[in-house]
Formats: sequence, structure tokens, C-alpha cells
Amino acid sequence: MTTRKRTDAVPKVPDEFHVFGFARDLLAWYDEQKRDLPWRINRDPYRVWVSEIMLQQTRVETVKPYFENFMRKFPTVEALADAPEEEVLKAWEGLGYYSRARNLQAAAREVKETYGGVVPDTPEEISKLKGIGPYTAGAILSIAYEKPEPAVDGNVMRVFSRLLLMHDDIAKPATRIKMEQLIRQVIPQGRAGDFNQALMELGALVCLPRNPQCLTCPVFDYCLARREGVQEELPVKGKAKPPRPVSYLVAVIKREDAYLITKRPEQGLLAGMWEFPMVETEQVEWAEDILPDALQQRYGLDVSVEQPLLQIRHTFSHLQWHLHVHLCAYRGGSGQLPATARFVSGNQLADYAFSVAHGKIIQYLSQAAFTL
Ligand code: ADE
Repeated sequence: MTTRKRTDAVPKVPDEFHVFGFARDLLAWYDEQKRDLPWRINRDPYRVWVSEIMLQQTRVETVKPYFENFMRKFPTVEALADAPEEEVLKAWEGLGYYSRARNLQAAAREVKETYGGVVPDTPEEISKLKGIGPYTAGAILSIAYEKPEPAVDGNVMRVFSRLLLMHDDIAKPATRIKMEQLIRQVIPQGRAGDFNQALMELGALVCLPRNPQCLTCPVFDYCLARREGVQEELPVKGKAKPPRPVSYLVAVIKREDAYLITKRPEQGLLAGMWEFPMVETEQVEWAEDILPDALQQRYGLDVSVEQPLLQIRHTFSHLQWHLHVHLCAYRGGSGQLPATARFVSGNQLADYAFSVAHGKIIQYLSQAAFTL
């Protein structure tokens, strides 16, 4: 009896889709119209890498100043590898998803130690680095090293769902793999980096999620969804679970001109960031009872709640924080604070990395400083 190894067939780009003309027209448009972005001034693999990490889940306009500041502070892999983590988190403050910064620095240390500071140029090696998934690996390999690798993110999936009239659910991991197999068949020789960036550019400027700008699209003639008039119905995307709401009381504890801040655990959401003490509760109207009890238990502090200050909502991919922030007065304390909690004067708060939500509290305090 013979055994036959089963292999899943690689999907093929439909015959009616003209691969050569498509790549040619897309690249001609990109050459003319591409935006001047700070990470496009050269193809330094480290710069490409940092930009791609920052651009995950964050808009181009937001990333620009962060990228330039980060490059001034940490111009090379070695500079980033050797920097104190606190400084890296500080430079990332406000961009969100802070594990990106921690993974980036861990990977920079690995590149320094294992690869002599040179970002590796093979899929096998680069994919082993912390924080580098298939999208980022493809982006770095193609943009910096001109390797014919696809870089498929949500925007590229939207563009290709329309171009090839695909009804696959882009929320499913199998769809990304299918897209990668299809895009490999379309990447033009010698221009992989520009081709991938041109797809991103098309997704950002023309092939928008709602109201795609088909009349000015450089690849209008090739788009199979447009031919059927169904471009606005694509891509198909299964519903993600909505973020779970969680309510917190937040204590701004004032002792003379200093405030108590605490460091989050080294693992998990906003790992290692600083914040004002938070107490999770459904009973936000009981702040006067709940906050003094919790702060006594956690830090041995005697506080009283003085007044509500502000409310903040902040949405993460899986959680929605509702923060009810109260000003508290310090009345005394027994014993030592843990190493992860300290009183810091108002003008020293800027030396610590805070999450976006707690950054809003600091902004509020700096505006209200004279009245509190
Ligand atoms: N989004 C992700 N990567 C990008 C890039 N290199 N240029 C513009 N937008 C992007």
C-alpha cells in the first residue's frame, strides 16, 4: 500500500485578476503619491522595525512625533539595548500597548547579543525575536532587505478582500494565511518593500473602510469587488467580543505638595507603568468608605476622601475602564510603603511613565494645581 502525504492546496489568484498590470499601476501611483514619512527617509532595518512596532494599533499621525523622538533618544539597536527600561517606557508614554516597548527592548538586547547589533534578515531568525509576528517580520524583511515576503495587516486584508472579491472572514487566522499565500503570487521582483508599503498606502488613503474612494483609485480597473459593485460590503469581519466594562475608584492622595503613585506588576496589562492607586468596585458611589479602607489595608495609610475630581473612560481591546477619580487628604501612616509605592512631588511626576488614562489625571492636576 502506498501512503500519500496530504498537502493543503495553495489558493491561486483568479485568472481574471491581472497580476502584472496591477503591480505596475500600484507602484507607479505609489512612486508619485507616497507620503513623506520619517521612517521612509532610508531603509535602516532598525528604523523600519521601530516604526512598524509603533504603527501597530496606532495611527500614522500619532506615531510621527514619537518615532522622531525615539530615534533621537535611541538612534541604534545598541542605544536601545543599553537604555534603562524606565527611559524606554517614558519615550513610549501615550502610545499605549506598552508591552510593545518592552518586547522591542528585549528584542534589541537579543539582536545586540546574538547578531552583533545587525537585525537578522531571514524569516526564521527575525520571527524568533520578541514582539515580531508574521506581519512585522514581513514588513522588515521586505522594506529593509527587499525580501519577497508579504506583510499582511488588517488594512491589507481589506484591500485584498476587495481586489480579489474574497468573502473569507478576516477575523479568522486562516484568512491571513490565505492572504499571505495569494500576495506572494503578486509581489513584483525587486520591489517587495515598495509593493507592501503601496498596499498599506492604498488602504490608508484610498481603499478606506467606509466610503472607499474608488473614483480616484489607481487600481480601479483591476478590482473584482468594484466590478460587482460590492466593495462596501467587504471585507467580511466576524464580530469580536465587546470590551468588558470595569469600574475603579482612583485615589489622588495629597501629602503637602506630593502625590502617592504606585507601579503596576511587571506582567500583564500596562506592565511596569506608574499610576494613582486604583480600587476595583461596582460601588463607585461609596468612595468615602471604600477608598480609606482599601488604602489602609494596602499601604497602612490613613486618608480621607475630600472631593470627586473627574471621571475618565479608557478602552483597551478587551476592557473598558471607568475611572472615578477622587482627591484624598493624607492624615497619617504606619510603617513603610512597599517599593512599588512612593510619594512624588507634583513637578517630579513627569519623570515617571504613566498610562494614557492616568496621564489625563496628571494633566487635570497641573491645570487645577492652584485650586486644590
Ligand atoms: N502602517 C504600517 N506600516 C506602515 C508604513 N511602513 N507606512 C505607512 N503606514 C504603515
